[in-house]
Amino acid sequence: MSPTTAAEITSDLAADTLLVREYLDRAVRPAVLDEEQQQKYREMIKELMAVKNARLVAHYYTDPVLQELAEETGGFVGDSLEMARFGRDCDAEILVVAGVKFMGESAKILSPDKTVLMPTLQATCSLDIACPIEKFSVFCDEHPDRIVVVYANTSAAVKARSDWVVTSSIALDVVEHLMEQGKKVLWAPDKHLGSYIQKTTGADMLLWDAACIVHEEFKARGLNAMRKMYPDAAILAHPESPSAVLELADVVGSTTQIINAAKNLPNTEMIVATDQGIFHKLQQVAPHKKFIIAPTAGNDATCRSCAQCPWMGMNSLQSLYLSLDAQSNVIDVAAELAEKAMIPLQRMLDFAANNQLKVRGKA
Ligand code: 13P
Ligand code: SF4
Repeated sequence: MSPTTAAEITSDLAADTLLVREYLDRAVRPAVLDEEQQQKYREMIKELMAVKNARLVAHYYTDPVLQELAEETGGFVGDSLEMARFGRDCDAEILVVAGVKFMGESAKILSPDKTVLMPTLQATCSLDIACPIEKFSVFCDEHPDRIVVVYANTSAAVKARSDWVVTSSIALDVVEHLMEQGKKVLWAPDKHLGSYIQKTTGADMLLWDAACIVHEEFKARGLNAMRKMYPDAAILAHPESPSAVLELADVVGSTTQIINAAKNLPNTEMIVATDQGIFHKLQQVAPHKKFIIAPTAGNDATCRSCAQCPWMGMNSLQSLYLSLDAQSNVIDVAAELAEKAMIPLQRMLDFAANNQLKVRGKA
């Protein structure tokens, strides 16, 4: 039976943590290809993309080989907001989204006439898993006086139940805007991003209790020790990291905002608290700077996550080739649901188009 009160929802979330583990057990790591095999796949994919008028849209956390392929073939690499925008605006017939499920769904909602494929349909996100629509809907019903703002890392159904969808690059600006209108916010699902927004803006926010399994592993204690080793390094953190980590950061922002900071800050050393996939782009934009991954465990613990999203890591040259060749792994969002989810997504895109987004931090 579905929970009906906030207390029941909270206790049910422990069960969702187990669910995340089950998904993780199923996360398949792609086989490692040698240089020759990689080259063969790259060529076959390029040929298919040209024939089928397809474009590859990849997230910064995916394998560098996919990021390079996207850029070489007129596709795109970006943060989740930019991926959604690029997919909507490009004139391809097929979009191949290398990332996780919510990114494919957002692309489909914004481009209903395009065919949206993903290298794998298994790639999900701990935030999406931990915010099932049935429980979320009950939570919203209990708080009708609040504007429902959800992170993009959610299912189409959760988006459809919301007033606003936001990504990490725009979340603060949107909540600030709502606060100026005297609105109270119900926020889901990432508790760390939610509490960061709450602290920064002072908005009245009720938070869902979920976290990113990758960013939650960054530890302030280890980061403090690392800062002593690199006293001149800037600390760049994604806002899905715990608050104690964010308090130590010089810049807090989305993946693109982190990359821009890496390029623009004068520091020649940077400690980075986000998925290691981003290092490919960081090193490209600032080849002479040194990037160090933030520690994921305290002094006494062993590394558990190593800052690599298991689901992003499921995207590979082989799975991309297979889905494009067979036009399999098609993302479908029921028309009625897509229409409802489009409203808060469009609201975000309109807001982004009309406002200069601020980057936060001490820098
Ligand atoms: P960005 O929007 O910053 O790319 O973040 C997406 C994400 O899933 C981070 O873990
Ligand atoms: Fe989700 Fe975290 Fe992976 Fe991003 S890094 S897709 S928030 S699990």
